[in-house]
Amino acid sequence: MLGEAKNKLLTRVGPGEPMGNLLRRYWMPIAAEADYQDQKVTPIRLMGEDLVLYRDGKGNLGLVDRQCPHRRADLSYGYTEDCGLRCNYHGWLFDKDGACLEQPYEDVAAPERKFREKVKIKAYPLERKAGLIWAYMGPMPAPLLPDWEPFNWPNGFKQIVFTTLPCNWFQCQENSIDPVHFEWMHANWAKRLRGEDGRAPRHLKVAFDEFEHGLVYKRIREDTDETNPLWTVGRTALWPNAFFLGDHFEWRVPIDDENTLSVTWAFFRVPTEAEPFEQDTIPAWEAPLIDETTGRWITSHVMNQDFVAWVGQGTIADRAQERLGTSDAGIIKMRKLFFDDLEKIDRGEDPKGIIRDPAENQSIKLPVAERDLLLRGAPRAALATHPIWAKHMQDFPFCAGQPETVRDAFRAAIGEVSEDA
Ligand code: FES
Ligand SMILES: [Fe+2]
Repeated sequence: MLGEAKNKLLTRVGPGEPMGNLLRRYWMPIAAEADYQDQKVTPIRLMGEDLVLYRDGKGNLGLVDRQCPHRRADLSYGYTEDCGLRCNYHGWLFDKDGACLEQPYEDVAAPERKFREKVKIKAYPLERKAGLIWAYMGPMPAPLLPDWEPFNWPNGFKQIVFTTLPCNWFQCQENSIDPVHFEWMHANWAKRLRGEDGRAPRHLKVAFDEFEHGLVYKRIREDTDETNPLWTVGRTALWPNAFFLGDHFEWRVPIDDENTLSVTWAFFRVPTEAEPFEQDTIPAWEAPLIDETTGRWITSHVMNQDFVAWVGQGTIADRAQERLGTSDAGIIKMRKLFFDDLEKIDRGEDPKGIIRDPAENQSIKLPVAERDLLLRGAPRAALATHPIWAKHMQDFPFCAGQPETVRDAFRAAIGEVSEDA
């Protein structure tokens, strides 16, 4: 268990909150490039701050305060210009760095005041990588946006999935260091949902190792031993708010204390027969949460099952009431590392995993169980009988609701023709 004060410390993400300060030191994926191909203005809430994300006529992306500094109009109703975003109330124009480029009436009536130069809007830096738009909301100088190895793998069909979850980010992230739930929440529950009897192999042993970019969990089940990748490679709780499983990343980006944006980036290596494969745009889609026929959560796909657990823990899980067992050693370790990080920040140091040296930021390797297959590829026949990849060829396994357009693009990439094509 964790007392109320410590629970608050871990879960509060607003400006000025210790954990809010910590998370602001890392780049966060907030949107997909595919959704910002043209000029666009959208409201977005991140870590308790109301902001506007836009793309202007020159292709600049901007992330600025939602309220205009003049008289607080809502800039999500502003309009983009060739350069910047213009408030629809009195026409003040701001660029992506927060500078005020025009104040149409002031510029004409009182140019000598140079009022424009005295006004700035809050603006955060953005970068594009792996089809995602990333924001940095922390103190300068900003660290480097990590260049994770999978972002550079060739011949992959990639897709991005967003889901907005009505719960705090930290209970989502604790799931990244929770091996035993696979047996129950996924394997056994999926069996029951399919009307099947029987049990998945039990977990016999779990272990949690720290490394530079997070924690790795390892496990041994009844049907595996210490030579299995479940033990030799494991899975990664990637610092500070992601889960990495070899073929996909899941980020839990705080919208505010009570809502989280789940961002999934998934990679599927196309069969060697379909190479070379280049993907011009990484498609992005929003996964639904509710089953419209029952009004209950969707439970058919792996991450939907996780969402049921996270949201079910309460808007902000009350950790004063929990009873941790030995399976939760990783959870305890993760919390401790965050408390250590908060102390590091107080001492003026960088928290865990911050990258500032460009020489280090070259296709950073993470634990990957199927590295050979992902790097070299495999023929269609081998994928079609592979215990994991065969299922991926049939259906996107992580979230329900993949749009037909994305499904068709995937089929075309792996060399299958869609039924209605
Ligand atoms: S409120 Fe935005 S220009 Fe006046
Ligand atoms: Fe899970």
